[in-house]
Amino acid sequence: MSLIELKDIVKQFKRGTEDLTILRRVSLSVEKGEFLAIVGPSGSGKSTLMNTIGLLDMPTSGSYILDGVVTEKLKDDQLAEVRNKKIGFIFQQFNLLPRLTAIENVELPMIYAGISKKERRERGMRMLETLGMGGRSHHRPSELSGGQQQRVAIARALAIGPAILLADEPTGALDSATGQEVLELMIELNQAGNTIVLITHDLHIAEHAKRVVTIRDGEIVSDKHNKVPTERQATEVSV
Ligand SMILES: Nc1ncnc2c1ncn2[C@@H]1O[C@H](COP(=O)(O)OP(=O)(O)O)[C@@H](O)[C@H]1O
Ligand SMILES: [Mg+2]
Repeated sequence: MSLIELKDIVKQFKRGTEDLTILRRVSLSVEKGEFLAIVGPSGSGKSTLMNTIGLLDMPTSGSYILDGVVTEKLKDDQLAEVRNKKIGFIFQQFNLLPRLTAIENVELPMIYAGISKKERRERGMRMLETLGMGGRSHHRPSELSGGQQQRVAIARALAIGPAILLADEPTGALDSATGQEVLELMIELNQAGNTIVLITHDLHIAEHAKRVVTIRDGEIVSDKHNKVPTERQATEVSV
């Protein structure tokens, strides 16, 4: 079975008395180990699709099986539990808590996952070191550059050992050189076995994914496999 199985997903929002249909019978399967980019113009429904995949929002209709879990039958607390265990989120604006240090931010999802204090600290430090942020573990987000903040956010996403890394415009708030570094990091993480679903409107980034799904007006209009770039060397990041 696929890691992600979306079938005929419809998402509607109410605006006044009107029903707006944002996702129109979207079906998508993603296998373990894929690096999938979802591209499309602004307003096409990318974030709505990401929120569905990430169990942040429930579809109006359709079925979604995540890593064998039939999600439409779950109650809110069960959804939160599945989300906390299986999904590592990476956002455009990093979404780090400003009052917490880098290591405390990385530890946060592990608290929800019920991991002991000692193990949280050990695992968190290992993640930060893997991402080249070991020396910044006690800095607060405001003391870090954008690229460094995104590395902390990626460490946070990885710390629970998620089934999927889900990234919505992860380079959107970074300059192009830093964005390129974060992209290369994502490629390495995929080569190390992580399944990545990345949402972007940047076609350069999409070129580096193994598979590109294009969404327009809430519908998948193409689904293509890229040639895997052969010049990439074996992974340096292993988590
Ligand atoms: N909570 C909401 N209520 C009403 N409309 C929404 C809501 N969320 C998104 N939309 C609308 O859905 C459409 C797609 O939004 P979104 O998924 O954010 O697109 P994208 O990420 O591709 O830019 C937009 O027209 C947006 O205004
Ligand atoms: Mg969006």
